[in-house]
Amino acid sequence: MSHDLAPLYAQHIATLRQRADKALALGNFDHLLIAASTPLRKYLDDQDYPFVANPHFLHWLPLTNAPGSWMVYTPGNKPKLIFVQPHDYWHVVPDAPSGYWVDQFDITVVHTFAEAVDALPKGHRAVIAPECPSIHGVEANNPPAVVNYLHWHRSYKTPYELALMRQASRVGTRAHRAAEKAFRAGESEFGIQMAYLAAAAQTAAELPYANIVGLNEHGAVLHYTNFDRTPPKQSRSFLIDAGGSASGYASDITRTYAATGHHEFQALIDSVDRAQQSFAAKVKAGQSYPDLHIHAHHVLADVLREHGVIRMSAESAVQSGVTSTFFPHGLGHPIGLQVHDVAGFQANEHGGSIPRPEGHPYLRMTRVLEPGMIVTIEPGLYFIDMLLEELRAKPAAKDIDWAKVEAFRPYGGIRIEDDVVCTDSEPENLTRNAFAVN
Ligand code: GLY
Ligand code: MN
Ligand code: MN
Repeated sequence: MSHDLAPLYAQHIATLRQRADKALALGNFDHLLIAASTPLRKYLDDQDYPFVANPHFLHWLPLTNAPGSWMVYTPGNKPKLIFVQPHDYWHVVPDAPSGYWVDQFDITVVHTFAEAVDALPKGHRAVIAPECPSIHGVEANNPPAVVNYLHWHRSYKTPYELALMRQASRVGTRAHRAAEKAFRAGESEFGIQMAYLAAAAQTAAELPYANIVGLNEHGAVLHYTNFDRTPPKQSRSFLIDAGGSASGYASDITRTYAATGHHEFQALIDSVDRAQQSFAAKVKAGQSYPDLHIHAHHVLADVLREHGVIRMSAESAVQSGVTSTFFPHGLGHPIGLQVHDVAGFQANEHGGSIPRPEGHPYLRMTRVLEPGMIVTIEPGLYFIDMLLEELRAKPAAKDIDWAKVEAFRPYGGIRIEDDVVCTDSEPENLTRNAFAVN
């Protein structure tokens, strides 16, 4: 696998160098310094939080565990890696650099964070690093002109990045298969989570986000991250939103299952699944993402009507906000090195922000799709007590079949989420393709 990546990686670095040349020129900077970042210490403790590398660093290097290291780029020169390999017998020390990526870098190995800082070039520097924890001896300046330019271009994934995104999808789908099996075997949420981690062969901290594993009504809590240790008396339904990582790249996958014999809920899942696939098919160059989100509201209104939940037209369900009771989040977001990737609202390479459509406060992507972008498509329908109570108080309440709502409430909700690449022609559905081989 990794030797296949070598030519793609060489091309990726060539692209990043061109982007960095342009970004640095915007502020007349001599050097681009990107910190891997340093671990964050727990308050009053001698333990650190799990280390999460600066995504800018991961864009250049597949080194998810190189705290204190730096990527240094000076236009016209080969990029440099200042790699920290501590003299330490308490912890596992990062391996000496090896693999498909090393040829693209001049590598200096040092033994302390301070030595790494001393090895950085002087001059007019764009220093890309988190402000907290600060790094002694060098100050992050994160120049907005440079950062905006880099964020904008991170939207366009290189073939190397696509290869890693496919890998992250395979990790996730493999683990989703194990999770479904555990659900069907009657496991608790905690048991399902253990099955997921084992199949992914990743720790919870290595995954791109905290898994959502909800049985029955728990599917109605959008970010449900408790893991009940005991199984419910009866498992009727299962919503799992969980991904996988590959060299810092994320997958973000949701599936919903009905237990055998729960036909009405299964039929509702099937309708949401069909709707979801029709939205994923529209991930094409020139498609406005907010328009797709609004379109999804209309289609989901039809689904609610077909299943007898609402009696009004799709048009009036969207206008009156009824669809937002059942679908209260955005259709999706950009994904890449971060599960909610950068630049979802950015107006152009110099910054700016494209506002969300009114009445849709949780949409995370307002741009027009272009080749190279990867977005999630994650419609849902939920039966959320708090939102249903609000709906009961509105005039539209008379056009709701509340007995139907009561019948679906014990199942919590449905979300189906795939990661989809916008290309020059047909979309590439990373998630469905990965499920097909797992
Ligand atoms: N897993 C978080 C999300 O779907 O956005
Ligand atoms: Mn998502
Ligand atoms: Mn998700």
